[in-house]
Amino acid sequence: MEIVETVCAMKAQVAAWKAEGLTVGLVPTMGSLHAGHESLMDAARAACDRVVVSVFVNPIQFGPGEDFDAYPRDIERDGAIAAAHGVDVVFHPTAEEMYPPAHNTYVVMETLTDALCGASRPGHFRGVCTVVTKLFNIVRPDQAFFGQKDAQQLAIIKRMVADLNMNVTVVGCPIVREEDGLAKSSRNAYLSPEERQAALVLSRAIRAGEAAVAAGERDGTTLRRLMTAVIEEEPLARIDYIEVVDGLTMRPVEAIGETALVAMAVYIGRTRLIDNFLYEAGE
Ligand code: PAF
Repeated sequence: MEIVETVCAMKAQVAAWKAEGLTVGLVPTMGSLHAGHESLMDAARAACDRVVVSVFVNPIQFGPGEDFDAYPRDIERDGAIAAAHGVDVVFHPTAEEMYPPAHNTYVVMETLTDALCGASRPGHFRGVCTVVTKLFNIVRPDQAFFGQKDAQQLAIIKRMVADLNMNVTVVGCPIVREEDGLAKSSRNAYLSPEERQAALVLSRAIRAGEAAVAAGERDGTTLRRLMTAVIEEEPLARIDYIEVVDGLTMRPVEAIGETALVAMAVYIGRTRLIDNFLYEAGE
């Protein structure tokens, strides 16, 4: 396994693979790899001849006052995890390599980015769409793997790939949870032991929502109220949003139809965590 730090070297490696007719899988990450990322790497390993994991804490997707500086970084640990999962290359550029001083082009999506995390984090998805486009252009993956935990991000990237006719298949992979239900996230590392316990309220609310839908509840307001009540039982939790939206447009729905995304962002202390479930009729 090799760690590649420059765009030029990464492009040269990909060109050599493509000349051999090999397929390439990309797992874009910001590092601090955990079991959720490992499941993406395993999916990429099973589907593609060569696997690239990018480890890049993308400055332009963090807003002022967000956790860009605090975001955990440990490339040695990440490299060892990637190697253990059969990854061929970790692409780990510097911010200057990705955004040289003259950089002046961004990818901006319209309405899909307005709701949910986009409403709470203005400019976040502009940063995500821009860096993912750059990574796609550098690595030229046949398939790219993203977690369903970032459901809005996944929907936005699928939309971007379709809208801009990009030659990549976007593969969404299921949420990976701790044994006690907490969705795996690099930000779980910020939680104190007391907050870690309190954070279980997210998966409790998700399970309550899922159970209500399984029992036939289809009304968006009722679902939101029910999940809000679960979160409000936890004194350390503060709701950013709980929404029931169409899985493709991210627009709120009054009643769940064929498919819906039930998504939430909740602060536990100062740490913002997200979780969701997807409803698809007939599944
Ligand atoms: O999901 C993430 O870790 C990031 O948003 C991504 C897709 C790697 C872009 O920086």
